[in-house]
Amino acid sequence: MRDHFEIRDHDAAGRIGRLEVPRADVTVETPALLPVVNPNVLTIEPERLREEFGAEMLITNSYIIRSTDRIRDRVVDEGLHEFLGFDGAIMTDSGSFQLAEYGDIDVTTAEIIEFQRRIGSDVATPVDVPTPPDADRERAERELETTKRALADAEDADTGEMLVNAPVQGATYADLREAAGRHAAATDLDVFPVGAMVPLLNSYRYAEVVKAVRAAKRGLGPGVPVHLFGAGHPMMLALAVAAGCDLFDSAAYALMARDGRYLTVSGTEHLEDLDYFPCSCPVCAHHAPADLRGFGDGETERLLAEHNLHVTFEELRRVKEAIRSGNLLDLVDRRARGHPAMLDGYRALLDHAEELERTDPGSKDAFFYTSHEAARRPEVRRHRDRLGRLTAPDDLLLTESKAPSDHAYDAVWRVTPPFGPYPPALSETYPLTAEVPERTDDAAQVAAAAGVAALADANPETALTLGHDAWCDAALERLPDRVETENLRTLG
Ligand code: GUN
Ligand code: ZN
Repeated sequence: MRDHFEIRDHDAAGRIGRLEVPRADVTVETPALLPVVNPNVLTIEPERLREEFGAEMLITNSYIIRSTDRIRDRVVDEGLHEFLGFDGAIMTDSGSFQLAEYGDIDVTTAEIIEFQRRIGSDVATPVDVPTPPDADRERAERELETTKRALADAEDADTGEMLVNAPVQGATYADLREAAGRHAAATDLDVFPVGAMVPLLNSYRYAEVVKAVRAAKRGLGPGVPVHLFGAGHPMMLALAVAAGCDLFDSAAYALMARDGRYLTVSGTEHLEDLDYFPCSCPVCAHHAPADLRGFGDGETERLLAEHNLHVTFEELRRVKEAIRSGNLLDLVDRRARGHPAMLDGYRALLDHAEELERTDPGSKDAFFYTSHEAARRPEVRRHRDRLGRLTAPDDLLLTESKAPSDHAYDAVWRVTPPFGPYPPALSETYPLTAEVPERTDDAAQVAAAAGVAALADANPETALTLGHDAWCDAALERLPDRVETENLRTLG
């Protein structure tokens, strides 16, 4: 059933796609944010979620509906769409989260899938077991077996046009996540949430989130829709999209509003502490923080929730535009400055530059080098790989400055940190059209030196001379011994 998902654009491992949801008769553009709707407390009316915020899909909890006498029969009679007043796509969760919180629930996968079908869910969820991050390996393996059985039960269920989630668990064991991803992708289920991320997200363990997502993605393969269960803070959307996630669900907008918290793209503020709003959404444009604090009757909470959701959807649009322009990693880099844990997440993502490179477009808007992390970006890596395949002439000058007018070399190639050397024919091609600062840094020099080394390795007979602008020792040490060097700074 994989043909429900079509990928339109790529940047790093991020993509813009279309998820067809046949039972709702809608196509949802991804990356998509699914606001979490508590069936008992509609903080913002679902109809407004669609009309004012642009939510094409939301998520609610079928287990809560099933265990709440007050609403169960009404939802069964009217159907979820009518009950919530929402005509987009509706995903339902199964009670697994309650299972993780309370240790026990009174429903099987077969029962809850049947219930989800009855109430008119468009995307259902089996009872997977969200193994917490630091569980021991034996428990993670045992619970993965239970999750596998839940997926098998979901495959056996009569689901009609309803799509079904195949959650990927495995705690913090990358090999288990990868194996779980491979198993899930081999089922005939449709959407692939990476599960049990909430404890990691709540404690800002973004490097481990990235590691788990990348492991799951290696198993799942590049073509399937991936949901990051429980993730919806605007600060981390760009990072999670760049790692390859397509769907998000935000309870944060409402939960945070409940205790006076105001979300921004660089973190969480307390309404109490704010003198000014750094945002121009309808809420912030019409109120000052002091006004907002003064409302009673849950009005403060409702307006805060609205701001929180506006800022989250705004970031999602920014992420999509960044994918289209090919500067998603620049956006991730900027977001990484909001919190050291986000920087850890970004650095963890760059550990996977080789994987990201596989889906990174060959050409896009000019590459901007604005932080030393960028020396590890996939584009730099790709150019280095290319250097390892280039044929160099016998006697070659590589230089950071212009070619001398009069020389005895066979050819002169320019060198630009962080990319390293390139033949003149490539100078107008991506990524060598990059904008780099005049004052480069050690990381860029070391990356450029690795480029020189790759070229030297591929051309053992070539005599190489490098003219560099006072490169650091670490960069000079990265060069093969046979490369002659000249410090252009001392030459004047
Ligand atoms: N909501 C947040 N995390 C999870 C998870 O791991 N599984 C399910 N079913 N729902 C979730
Ligand atoms: Zn606002």
